[in-house]
Amino acid sequence: MKLTVNLGKNSYPIHIENYILRKAGDIIAETFSGKRIMIVSDDNVYPLYGDIIEKNLCSSYECHHLILPHGEATKSFRSLPEIYSAMLKAKISRSDAVIALGGGVIGDLAGFAAASFLRGVKFIQIPTSLLAQVDSSVGGKVAVDLPEGKNLVGAFYQPSVVLIDPFVLSTLNKRYINDGMGEVIKYGCIRDNELFLTLEKHGSFDSLRDQLETIIKRCVDIKRVIVEHDEFDTGERMLLNFGHTLGHTIEQYFQYGRESHGEAVAIGMYQISLLAQMKGLTQKGVAARILDVLETYGLPSECNLPMNALTEAIRLDKKNLGGHLNIVLLHDIGDSYVHPTSIDFFERYNDLII
Ligand SMILES: NC(=O)c1ccc[n+]([C@@H]2O[C@H](COP(=O)([O-])OP(=O)(O)OC[C@H]3O[C@@H](n4cnc5c(N)ncnc54)[C@H](O)[C@@H]3O)[C@@H](O)[C@H]2O)c1
Repeated sequence: MKLTVNLGKNSYPIHIENYILRKAGDIIAETFSGKRIMIVSDDNVYPLYGDIIEKNLCSSYECHHLILPHGEATKSFRSLPEIYSAMLKAKISRSDAVIALGGGVIGDLAGFAAASFLRGVKFIQIPTSLLAQVDSSVGGKVAVDLPEGKNLVGAFYQPSVVLIDPFVLSTLNKRYINDGMGEVIKYGCIRDNELFLTLEKHGSFDSLRDQLETIIKRCVDIKRVIVEHDEFDTGERMLLNFGHTLGHTIEQYFQYGRESHGEAVAIGMYQISLLAQMKGLTQKGVAARILDVLETYGLPSECNLPMNALTEAIRLDKKNLGGHLNIVLLHDIGDSYVHPTSIDFFERYNDLII
């Protein structure tokens, strides 16, 4: 299956197919004619898939690799000098390419390194986590973290090609599968009732495995359309933040030490829909359907915090300067909209435990 993200001169293909890693060389050759490739990966992913990729590429390209420790701590501004040094040592020039082989951490980090090294070298995404396959590898947002916060330094830098091999998810551990399923559920909520019905019909991730190519394609296609309409995140792309106002606040409240991103967004999607139902802004029954699907795919729906703690944190968030707040809500499953409001949206429910 092949999709094309149409962004004028920044357009690029996305290939989605089981075992596509074995054909990486041929597919990359369709869009990349340089000489050298630097593969950036982590110490979980490279031992599993690095060899297959390198064997496939080495007849056409001079291949180098850099293996970094896994985990969010690697997506730090401080990792950049090591990547730039490796690229200098490998004599990577502007006509050469960087491949990100890994989850969202490696994709964001290697993407930012590619965007900034020599003012931009070619960039190829081979996402290996479910979250990276359905979300972070598409859309061109690349970034690193600063000690003061996540994603504070970044760029919009589209890849030249994305290769998605659903088969590699067979080695991804359960918590990260669940995390990625949070994003899949989000796509169903914001744009695709049929996808949501498929998720409702199946009782577990395992029973979805034979449909993964189609499900991933559906998610990527939803993101593709949204990104094509709003490449630089000034409007429609906001819909991708469904569940994020509360989710982000929950992650911050526990200093990124308790709920994962996917878990926090899952709680956010359910709780915001519950509040919106009480206000008559979301059709009745929607929150219950979200709750069922979250339970099916091993995701939480509550975090046992008083709303007033979260309201305070939302108020302090610099994004809410001037008291304005844009919240993504659902009219119904598959039908999302941006609701301009203020902190009052949450304050009225300060006594609730969510
Ligand atoms: N750029 C964007 O648009 C965007 C969107 C959403 C999230 N993100 C970013 O993505 C990051 C999270 O991504 P993530 O959840 O993929 O985390 P991650 O990159 O840390 O990967 C999760 C874990 O799974 C391991 N792993 C990955 N693929 C594997 C495989 N096939 N088999 C075995 N192990 C595997 C990794 O080594 C890691 O330990 C965050 O930094 C977040 O900010 C970016």
